Amino acid sequence: GSGQDSGASRQGGGSDQITLGFSQVGAESGWRTANTKSVQDAAKEAGIDLKFSDAQQKQENQIKAIRSFIQQKVDAIAFSPVVESGWDTVLKEVKDAGIPVILTDRAVDSADTSLYKTFIGSDFVVEGTKSGEWLVKEYEGKPDPVNIVELQGTTGSAPANDRKKGFGDVIAADPKFKIIASQTGDFTRAKGKEVMEAFLKAHKDIDVLFAHNDDMGLGAIEAIEGAGLKPGTDIKIITIDGVRDGMQALADGKINFIAECSPLLGPQLMDLVKKAVKGEQIPTRVLTEETTFTPEQAKAALPDRQY
Ligand code: AHR
Repeated sequence: GSGQDSGASRQGGGSDQITLGFSQVGAESGWRTANTKSVQDAAKEAGIDLKFSDAQQKQENQIKAIRSFIQQKVDAIAFSPVVESGWDTVLKEVKDAGIPVILTDRAVDSADTSLYKTFIGSDFVVEGTKSGEWLVKEYEGKPDPVNIVELQGTTGSAPANDRKKGFGDVIAADPKFKIIASQTGDFTRAKGKEVMEAFLKAHKDIDVLFAHNDDMGLGAIEAIEGAGLKPGTDIKIITIDGVRDGMQALADGKINFIAECSPLLGPQLMDLVKKAVKGEQIPTRVLTEETTFTPEQAKAALPDRQY
């Protein structure tokens, strides 16, 4: 609220300054680091007082942070939900306090959409679809079975659920594509490596790796090289994000295809926050624009890549 109460509770800033509570997932990936920087830089640029909280990939930490934002009487709350389910209670508390909520990057599965003003971020299903479409093209006219292993993102998270679905639906059209193993790598490099090592031990005939983000793919590359195989050649690799290290691996031929997911949500988020606090009408869904990259396209894009 911009009334007298919240004005009096603010320290320093004039009564017009907006205070935004932001609960971030964690620092699990290169994407997340770039996203945090984008949010922090954009808040500064917009003159918004940002209360930033890192949940270390735990929903309970996010719920605590959100409750503390309510107590601090922030003007708006934005958060990137670790998982999709289990938000109704705390979101009702925020609504009762009259504080607008903006979902950033990841969605919640709450049936009551009045619990938040808008959702800004990617269409994760489309990222999975694009990944599947590349694979179908790559193996066009080749009748042999294609054995796929999948490194899923954080269990229960919107990007893991949606990317799995988008990819799975496309490849289901041809029974030669078989997902022979699928496990979470928590969106981290370390876990991606560990799980890929286990996949390689259990399966001698892996043709393709689909990793739900670059970081897990990069960890898996270490495992593949450690097993004496050539990533990108012996095992084709598809990842999602397009962070610098991923793009470099793509340019080097160790990754074969990346579906982009943009972390640069900060400037648009701050615009939405300002409007929501003023009570202006805002669209209920703001989609991020993104593309895909082949090795050639990665080489061309790398010099200007911001993250
Ligand atoms: O929610 C977006 C996903 O979270 C990114 O693809 C992944 O790298 C991050 O950890």
